[in-house]
Parts: sequence; structure tokens; C-alpha cells
Amino acid sequence: MNLINRPRRLRSSQSIRDLVRETNLSAADFVKPLFVVKGENIREEISSMPDNYHLSLDQLLKEVEELIDLGIRAVILFGLPEYKDAEGSSAWQQDGIVQQAVRSLKNNFPELLVITDLCLCQYTDHGHCGILEGGKVKNDATLSRLAKIAISHAEAGADMIAPSDMMDGRVAKIRQALDQNGFTEVGIMAYSAKYHSAFYGPFRDAAHSAPAEGDRSSYQMDPANSDEALKEMKLDIEEGADIIMVKPALSYLDIIQKASLNFNLPIAAYNVSGEYAVVKAAAEKGWIDEKSVALEILISIKRAGADIIITYWADSAARWLND
Ligand code: PBG
Repeated sequence: MNLINRPRRLRSSQSIRDLVRETNLSAADFVKPLFVVKGENIREEISSMPDNYHLSLDQLLKEVEELIDLGIRAVILFGLPEYKDAEGSSAWQQDGIVQQAVRSLKNNFPELLVITDLCLCQYTDHGHCGILEGGKVKNDATLSRLAKIAISHAEAGADMIAPSDMMDGRVAKIRQALDQNGFTEVGIMAYSAKYHSAFYGPFRDAAHSAPAEGDRSSYQMDPANSDEALKEMKLDIEEGADIIMVKPALSYLDIIQKASLNFNLPIAAYNVSGEYAVVKAAAEKGWIDEKSVALEILISIKRAGADIIITYWADSAARWLND
């Protein structure tokens, strides 16, 4: 054969493959989600998310020390509060679980980037991400609560607030509240294109945040839509988001790519609990190799255009990449 183009030349050895690789993963790309609970000496594995734990504050410090040793520099915190009510008032207490965790992390690891998930669903007794009135989630009534929570996180020392509720206008409201209280340097990573996804199942077990009645389809996005994702991202940018997020990641790689082609700010992708759990379960059965599959998933998210990957594999992947 008289072939001029032989693409296999660039695949013929490990050295050349490493040289021409277009996408690289590193521990610095990852954000590790952590679930914090009140109490002492608690490190309970979340059954649907193996290798991820409910952590009391003392155990949280140990966990984070390990993450830092692995090269991970950012975490996102989720709290399991001591009580729930209709308003979600345990979300904005100064001594709330997330607020305490932030203070302790920033005292012990000042260089660590501490991001806080901002939502009401773990804190309301009905499990919705907003204020419920007559069975409906009320947008504008929710915003003032979100602002209160944001301020309480900033007061505790959070570097970045990540609203995941999908109410309209929340980024503007939170930005304004932060600025008016002197927290101009606290950033916003907005869950901008957050879909109404069945892949959140294991997380809702972990965070005890499944809605008691109804579902989240009146605020989270329809998986069938992509123009709408661009609209949501554009609005969040106009309202002051510093980073925009697509969530989940795997079934939405096209959305991640559109985000990165359309907007000039960092794109985060949330590799969610269900995406993690399906791989874990199949690996447990010996049907797939977890390490290879997980690294392939993570590289695909990066290749699609994500700059930041929020993933339950953050520590495992950092270990694999170091090997
Ligand atoms: C809170 C929130 C959820 C997730 C992150 N923040 C759950 C939801 O919207 O139901 C899901 C994360 C995951 O599945 O890993 N609103």
C-alpha cells in the first residue's frame, strides 16, 4: 500500500502516545464532595457510594489531610443538619454543620479551596430546594433564604458558594447579598445547567434530601433540552457567576462542550452520584475494571471542555494518576 497518511505512527509507542496526548488529567482538576455530620468520631461509609463517607468534624480533618497529600486542593461541602423545618432554617445557623466545617477547614488548611453547596433540600422537612406554598416551590420567597445561607457560609470563611437550587435570579440575589455584606471576594460557582436527572439517586440517600412529595421537574431542567442550558448559563454569567456548572456530566457531554465553546469562563462538570454508583456496582460484580473505566470517564469530561471536575473519584483518581 502506498499510504501517505498513517495515523498509527503516532500511536506506535508509549512515548509518542504521551507526547501527542491532547487531554491530561491532574489532581488539580478535581473537587471532592464531602458530607459532614454532627457528632464525634463518625466515619460511616455511604452504602450506595462506596469509599465515600459521612464524616464528623474530627474525621473531616483527617480526610482532608489525606486529600491534600494526594494533591487535591478543593472540596465542596454538603451538610446533614440536626433538624429540618418548612423553611430550612438549619441551613443558615452560625453554628450549623456546614458553617462549623468551613471554619474548621479554613483554620487548619488555609490554602484549601472550600466551596459550599447552597441549597435548601437537605434542610427542609419536605425536601424541596425552595419554600413550598400550596404544593408549589415559590421562587422569589426562596431567594431571600438563599441569600441568608450564602452570607452565613461567607461569614464562616467559605471561598466560593455553589447554589444548586435552580431558582430564577438566585445568582444575582446571592452576589448582591455577598457584596452588601463585604464579601466581594467570595466567588460563585453556579449550578447553571442542572438537569432533572435520575442519576442523583445515591446522593439523595447520602444527603437525606429526596422530596417527600412530587419531584424537582418544576425547577431542574428537562434532559431533552440544550438551548435552555445555554440560556441558563448566559443568565448566570450576566448575574455574576464566576464559574458555571453542568450537571450531571456523562449524559450531558454535549452540553459541557457547548458551554466551553460559547462562554469564556471556567466550566465545571459534576460527575454525579449515580454515574459513580453504576461503575462501582459493575466493578464489584467483576464486570468492568473500575480504574480504567473511571479514568476514561474523567478524561471524557475534560475532553468535552470541562476545566473543573467535581467527582467522588477525586482521591482514587489522584492515587491512580500518581501510580
Ligand atoms: C442539592 C444537590 C443535589 C446534588 C448536588 N446538590 C441533589 C439534587 O438536586 O437532587 C446531586 C449530587 C449527586 O448526585 O452527586 N440540590
